[in-house]
Amino acid sequence: MSQPVQIAVVGSGYVGLVAAVCFAEMGHNVVCVDNDERKVAALRGGDTLIHENHLPELLERYRNRRVQFTTDLAEATRTSDAIFIAVGTPQSETGDADLSYVEAVASEIARSINGYKVIVEKSTVPVYTNEWIRRVIERNGVRREDFDVVSNPEFLREGTAVEDFLHPDRIVVGADSDRASAVLNAVYAPLTSGSYYEQKDIVPGCCSVQAPPALLNTSTKSAEIIKHASNAFLALKISFINAVSNLCEAADANVEQVARGIGLDSRIGPKFLRPGIGYGGSCFPKDVAAFRSVAEQMGVDFNLLSEVEKINVNQKKRFLSKVRSALWTLRGKKLAVLGLAFKGDTDDIRESPAIDLVEMLLAEGSSVVAYDPAAMKRAEEEIPASDRMRYAESIEDAARDADALLILTDWADFAKLDLQKLHTTLRYPIVIDGRNLYDPQQMVAHGFTYLSIGRPTVTPSRETHNALPGAVTVGA
Ligand code: UDX
Repeated sequence: MSQPVQIAVVGSGYVGLVAAVCFAEMGHNVVCVDNDERKVAALRGGDTLIHENHLPELLERYRNRRVQFTTDLAEATRTSDAIFIAVGTPQSETGDADLSYVEAVASEIARSINGYKVIVEKSTVPVYTNEWIRRVIERNGVRREDFDVVSNPEFLREGTAVEDFLHPDRIVVGADSDRASAVLNAVYAPLTSGSYYEQKDIVPGCCSVQAPPALLNTSTKSAEIIKHASNAFLALKISFINAVSNLCEAADANVEQVARGIGLDSRIGPKFLRPGIGYGGSCFPKDVAAFRSVAEQMGVDFNLLSEVEKINVNQKKRFLSKVRSALWTLRGKKLAVLGLAFKGDTDDIRESPAIDLVEMLLAEGSSVVAYDPAAMKRAEEEIPASDRMRYAESIEDAARDADALLILTDWADFAKLDLQKLHTTLRYPIVIDGRNLYDPQQMVAHGFTYLSIGRPTVTPSRETHNALPGAVTVGA
């Protein structure tokens, strides 16, 4: 049985909160620190503040017991052996990560160090941040033998963050001393030894006693680069398939068939080859920009990343053109929009391509009636309701009398629409699907004109505008 470690987690955002409750689930004692008193009060009261599977149950089980919430970083530092920094690293105007929160936390930790501490960067940070944290702590008078700075990046996806944390593909520990590495190895021992997976009532996932996750020990700099390179590579994979989808549209091929054909090559793999309206979220756009900026600062040509970003921006413009190709003019059109979150299963709208598209449609003079199962509250803060922007109560409410239905987020419910009902609810049976949730043949069989990404447009033969560019007639 592994020994519990006294852990502090600084920051209670997506990464910090998930890490805090998951460390408790692994048997450790955790203090989660945030300088926002309202947040701390809400978390103490059991409000998770974010939409994340398994989080409410775990928070309920451990709050005010194995996980304490506080604003007192000094006290949390004194009582902990490992202090995880999980504060935000927003994007600055130049694309760099803004590390001022990380620096502020590092200085404050330094002022309270009362014995050997391992300070762990969990936030996504550029290479050399570790070095800077070390310098900041030393400048505050802490002796070199009283601390180490470790890089332990997180690879959580929103929506499945708890499962990803407890059943990771790999754990990366970037440490330049054996002492620090040993502390981190002890933190993750319940997972790497498999002992966590032997227990009852655990969060289910792919790891098991027989197949526990691997822990990779690296240098601090390698760990920092692993995180940025992983996200940049995934973003590249998405931009790649989006570029291929554009080619498929031009050549009248089917990108879903192409993606399957590529993905079956075990060296490539089938994941992250779903074409769409571009990647969004709090990580990919920010991390690609930050990685590009790091490369630039270090004199390394990494223009590939600029192309990845360019394709991603263009993908939204292409979708807008697609809407135009189906509806001709956009001014005065009433459009039903399904999905505002940057992907399904989350209420997060940060860098959401769906939000960008709604803004573009409104700028073109269309009226939008949008529905999202979880993200409408947040969306309304970004795009207030107005005479041309309404938030619907249901899918049907959004679709009623709309000139077309646009699918912008891959929520599971949007892939199970009652097509017969939808046909009568819409003013015109036109569906423009930015996530390829439907089979074109099925849509045309139900009498829809159906436009999707990287696949031929289908339209019932009685339609007259099927000869326009990009439109292909399939007999209904
Ligand atoms: C991502 C990484 O997956 C995770 O490892 C990292 O820690 C944080 O960033 P997340 O932002 O939660 O996680 O979402 P993810 O599921 O990776 O999707 C990111 C974006 O890419 C979404 O907008 C999604 O719709 C899009 N996407 C994803 C595609 O367009 N096609 C795909 O094939 C996969």
